[in-house]
Amino acid sequence: MDALRKDPSQESHPGQPARIESVPIAAHPEETDSDRLAVPRERAERLRLRLAVEQYVERRHLVPPLSMEELTAHATAIAQAAQADPAHHSYLMVLLSNRVWRDTIATVPYDRRILMLPQCLRTRGVCQAPMDEMGLLCEECGQCATGDLQAEAENLGYVVLIAEGTTVVTKLLEQGRVDAVIGVSCLSTLERSFPYMAADAIPGLAIPLYQTGCDSTRTDFDWVREAIRLRSEEGWAGRLDIDELRTQIRNWFETGELDALLHPSHTQTERIAIEWLRKGGKRWRPLLAVCVYKALLGVETPVPESTRRLAVAVECFHKASLVHDDIEDDDAVRYGEVTLHRRDGIPVALNVGDFLLGEGYRQIAECGMPSGQIEQLVRVAVLGHRTLCLGQGEELCWMRAPHPLTPREVIEIFRLKTAPAFDVALQIGAIAAGADGEVCQVLKRFSDALGIAFQIRDDLDDFHSEAGDGDAHAMRPSILFALAHEQATPAGRRLIEAVWCAGKTDRAVYEQFLDQIRELAVEEKARQLLEHFKNEAVRSLSPLTNAHLKSLLRRVVGKILGRAC
Ligand code: IPE
Ligand code: MG
Repeated sequence: MDALRKDPSQESHPGQPARIESVPIAAHPEETDSDRLAVPRERAERLRLRLAVEQYVERRHLVPPLSMEELTAHATAIAQAAQADPAHHSYLMVLLSNRVWRDTIATVPYDRRILMLPQCLRTRGVCQAPMDEMGLLCEECGQCATGDLQAEAENLGYVVLIAEGTTVVTKLLEQGRVDAVIGVSCLSTLERSFPYMAADAIPGLAIPLYQTGCDSTRTDFDWVREAIRLRSEEGWAGRLDIDELRTQIRNWFETGELDALLHPSHTQTERIAIEWLRKGGKRWRPLLAVCVYKALLGVETPVPESTRRLAVAVECFHKASLVHDDIEDDDAVRYGEVTLHRRDGIPVALNVGDFLLGEGYRQIAECGMPSGQIEQLVRVAVLGHRTLCLGQGEELCWMRAPHPLTPREVIEIFRLKTAPAFDVALQIGAIAAGADGEVCQVLKRFSDALGIAFQIRDDLDDFHSEAGDGDAHAMRPSILFALAHEQATPAGRRLIEAVWCAGKTDRAVYEQFLDQIRELAVEEKARQLLEHFKNEAVRSLSPLTNAHLKSLLRRVVGKILGRAC
């Protein structure tokens, strides 16, 4: 408790990193009262590890958020270099994550932070505080440290919760009530919460309890105080509300807004094209473009008309590709309605698709940016367009002479046909914000992985809807069928080929085929593959030096692909 009353001006601050082996432990400025109270050998080890982490992060210029994979790998490397006890691995992960987020947290205003305290700091039997659905309602009786910590944090402006679990925190974050979390908990709970924090790129500082238990636990109170008072002069850039931005972007496709940008002359072609552009869809690609733009220039930066035109251009390209794709596959339904070519005929639909491509290029050309940037934008769009056609072409040529494909070959088609639209969207946002070539390289790797994962998910969804209504439309390069074919017995392969490549869709054969797919558990394998590419997308962000862009793209992965962390 004395530690809590220490004068804040005397607070410890991380000093300059020294060589790990030669740290003069007793004299180090990071030493706290609680450290002094703890078992000397463990205390010394904790200080040594803190310094090892400090040195490591500074040397490597690590930028948040670190993926789970990165956190684990870096913690292992630090442990090896510092010859730490393997039992300290989780502790090192906590230190590492804290250090990497420290500068960001320092910019978050106090009233945008939440302090999570565990209920186990109190002494059961003595503590009379009631509970509600948010957790313990501490009465600040002074019997344990909770009350003082709560009072101190609340005085600063913090939201304080004395609760276990992440549900309430997640809710507060989703509602946009807080932007950073400082949490005290046992190491195992902190470890469990890492993947969730990482998936949402939530700036977090964690302070472990000394021991696990549900009563009278203790922690380094100086460390908690130091964490809650962490502050820097640098302004908080804010946390982008992705859902709100998406709603805003959806509005750009309302009739009045579109007319104001496109100035249609009310020809029939324009009418059909704009109606199709408005039709719906998830607007992921314009969202990606604007997210990158805002991450690079600041969340509060209003989106200028030039960038809005570019976002609409990206959606024009996408919608054109859907019109053409529906013709090529002769699909009957899109957005729950009859497809354009089935409604207005192939010639009109073809022409509307072409018109939308032209409209997209016009929006780029007339977006009002300097000519050098327009040149880059056109180049990115042209190359993406070209690659997409090559991927689509691979698929269409395969459909003329279907043969079994390996999963690798299918993924290559996905890379060509689905990833370019994501790549074009991201690069366009980056160019509009004046990004450099290094960022663009990362975005390319990111969109490859994101596009492949997206198409695997689309394949899984298609398989479900088709298997359900029996409307077998199996003759396309499907990852599920490729995985099944790879693993089936010779007889199973013949059956798969009969449906996949020879188009046999009579009910009996098709039912057998479905049984075969289920028996081989390929859905599960496809899901693992999806997870693999999702992780690959996260991994691709590692070279980014801009923490805002890295965080936002990490969050976008979860939004677009769903989050199983
Ligand atoms: C559909 O993409 C085409 C694929 C790449 C699978 P979306 O699912 O993003 O299309 P919208 O949301 O309907 O426009
Ligand atoms: Mg197709």
